[in-house]
Amino acid sequence: MANKNPIIVALDVPSAEQALKLAEQVAPAVGAFKIGKELFVAAGPDIVRRVRTTGASVFLDLKFHDIPNTVAKAVASAVRLDVQMLTIHASGGGEMMRAAEKSAQDMAKSLGLPAPLVLGVTVLTSSNNETLAEIGCAADTEKQVLNLAQLAIKSGLRGLVCSPLEIVALRKVLPVHIQLVTPGIRTGTEKADDQKRTLTPREALAAGASWLVIGRPIYAAENPRLAAEKILESIY
Ligand code: C5P
Repeated sequence: MANKNPIIVALDVPSAEQALKLAEQVAPAVGAFKIGKELFVAAGPDIVRRVRTTGASVFLDLKFHDIPNTVAKAVASAVRLDVQMLTIHASGGGEMMRAAEKSAQDMAKSLGLPAPLVLGVTVLTSSNNETLAEIGCAADTEKQVLNLAQLAIKSGLRGLVCSPLEIVALRKVLPVHIQLVTPGIRTGTEKADDQKRTLTPREALAAGASWLVIGRPIYAAENPRLAAEKILESIY
């Protein structure tokens, strides 16, 4: 999928009505919409089909993590829904990631669709060294991010989700074609919230991000369409 417009708007709202209203309003100014657990569990798979009717791509962020067979089947179902990006946990291991990537390729081929980008999630930014120690992982978070990123790429994934502060370190070790999808983006003009380590859209792209996941700076703005357009202008 070509990313002329790298903005992915997170549809972090609790109902289909709110999501569709927002999607219709901002679709012309963005490249894709992210549908996460809150909206998907509330609105069901139909929300993916309805958001796709705006013409924008869909990033299904359900972070699959299960036995390889189950993840492969969940990925196949996501491909049938016509999503362009989806997430799995890299900590599920190489076999699980290979099964996910193969399932994405096979199902897309059988439907005559381009294969969606299966993105590996490394260490959640809510985790720190203590969280890793708690679950029996001796590595520190930065090292574990690099370990899991390299395992993901070795397992055939073509993209990763990463925090703004991980982009530079990952770009140093990853092949150039790997797509990096980055949340934690702030323009500097919005209200302070729970994102602690942020970059501006321009900074994140300059550091090597391929896609920017942006939620509140767009959906909580007085005029979401205008907010998206301003962000796009700030990039080029
Ligand atoms: O509103 P905001 O721009 O902070 O939204 C960012 C989106 O990216 C949310 O959907 C959030 O769950 C997601 N995300 C994040 N940080 C991560 C991983 C995902 O903010 N490390």
